[in-house]
Amino acid sequence: MRIARAVAHSNIALAKYWGKADTERNLPAVPSLSMTLDALKTETTVCFDEGFLQDEVNLDGALAAGKARSRVITLLDAVRLRAGISTPARVSTSNNFPTAAGLASSASGFAALALAAVHAAGLEFGREDVSAIARQASASAARSLFGGYATLAANGQRAQALASAEHFPLSMAIALTVMGPKDVGSTEAMQLTRSTSPYYSAWVEAAPRLFDDAVNAVKQRDLAALGAAAEQSALLMHASMMGASPPILYFQPATLAVVAAVRELRVRGTLAFFTMDAGPHVKVLTTPGAVEDVANVLRGVPGVLQVITTGIGPDASVQVEAT
Ligand code: DP6
Repeated sequence: MRIARAVAHSNIALAKYWGKADTERNLPAVPSLSMTLDALKTETTVCFDEGFLQDEVNLDGALAAGKARSRVITLLDAVRLRAGISTPARVSTSNNFPTAAGLASSASGFAALALAAVHAAGLEFGREDVSAIARQASASAARSLFGGYATLAANGQRAQALASAEHFPLSMAIALTVMGPKDVGSTEAMQLTRSTSPYYSAWVEAAPRLFDDAVNAVKQRDLAALGAAAEQSALLMHASMMGASPPILYFQPATLAVVAAVRELRVRGTLAFFTMDAGPHVKVLTTPGAVEDVANVLRGVPGVLQVITTGIGPDASVQVEAT
């Protein structure tokens, strides 16, 4: 029996990944840049034991079934293949944030799973090789192996560290807004965008420039430039999906109300910038000194249920317990 326990933090892309160059291998069509979040994390334990009859997957205290289970098994199979084993596993995972809130849990979830599984299988992989395993399950997860700022190139197999939290310490206020009817998952939504939206090719063409702007802004510690690139990346991504057939619209009235509040904050001199993923919530990028004031303003916006503030998170970490 060999057990490993890993912790990975969630990440929010400032230059977005949306669309696949290769669906089979899950390679992204555009480059992305993210910031790892301190406040949102997943802890996952993987145990391989010949005595188990079959794989068992426990997500936040409940046995997983269907698609959630099969995505985990696919990752375990990739690790078993590399380790040359066929031992069944027990996986148990918990998030320190409500999964049902619609905050991306797949990034931290698959990063923690890949790291725990690789170590439980006895593989001596570096962080980037673990990132490649996580990417096959979910491309955004590839970035969560790294703390600070991370990038994943177009067609990239593995994410890479770009800069540490200390290089450019920023904060984020996450406004959880009223959810609408059940959202389409990001994997399905990006496929639909690629196959039906007339704006998809424009997105793929424009995204690399915004990525370059975001990389340079992080290097130069330029929040205004980073925020401008992040807002344009988010809106271009959403524009591409709104053009799909049927259209994909994640925004709720509260989403746009938060966007308006962020613009108003800027008019009054606060450096704050919005970004939205495959859901109605708004993540607001700002300085550590301003984040509590920003959060208080967002708490007053109609339709905002809760605001979580966070700084930049660390590398994913793992402990092996062999018994
Ligand atoms: C909007 O990583 O969830 O959050 O690779 O199909 O699992 P799959 O997609 P996923 O997509 C994340 C999309 C995004 C933007 C981003 O994180 O870059």
